[in-house]
Amino acid sequence: MPTNTMPKSCHSAGGPYPILVLNGPNLAGIGLRQPEIYGSRGLESIPAMVEQLLGERAGEIELSFYNSNSEGALIDRLEQARAACVRGVAFNAGAYTHTSLALADCIAWIGIPVVEVHISNVFAREEPIRRQSFMGAHVMGMIAGFGLWSYALAVQALHAHIMEQDI
Ligand code: DQA
Repeated sequence: MPTNTMPKSCHSAGGPYPILVLNGPNLAGIGLRQPEIYGSRGLESIPAMVEQLLGERAGEIELSFYNSNSEGALIDRLEQARAACVRGVAFNAGAYTHTSLALADCIAWIGIPVVEVHISNVFAREEPIRRQSFMGAHVMGMIAGFGLWSYALAVQALHAHIMEQDI
């Protein structure tokens, strides 16, 4: 887990707690992209899934969403999340997971708990490079293989973590 380097003004308790769902390259097209691997539901299904998992406790968090195909834009958004006191990030970095030292460096310093998300089970796929994650050493944990439920499960894990911190 990274050291907490969030701005001092962020340390107040009391929700709703902001959580960011962040998506990297080629993920905006989920639902259409290779449905045999990624399923046929789009990212817009995620909020209802989160509500299904958290029930009335969904009101304790405030979800925001951001997608970009660009590595730099994802880093900018993570830095912005830090400045805005975002309490957790469910992050599917797509192929950048396996290649980007820059994104890993960012997660290592911003001090926000990040859950690495994958729709597919990256360990069960053909290309060995998908088993490698640059960010893996800096995230709180990783959820892979549950289709779009991977996002909802990541948000649930972040919610549980935030609640534990704020008691
Ligand atoms: C992915 C897995 C990555 O290997 C791939 O490059 C993606 C999607 C997933 O959600 O399963 O773009 O992150």
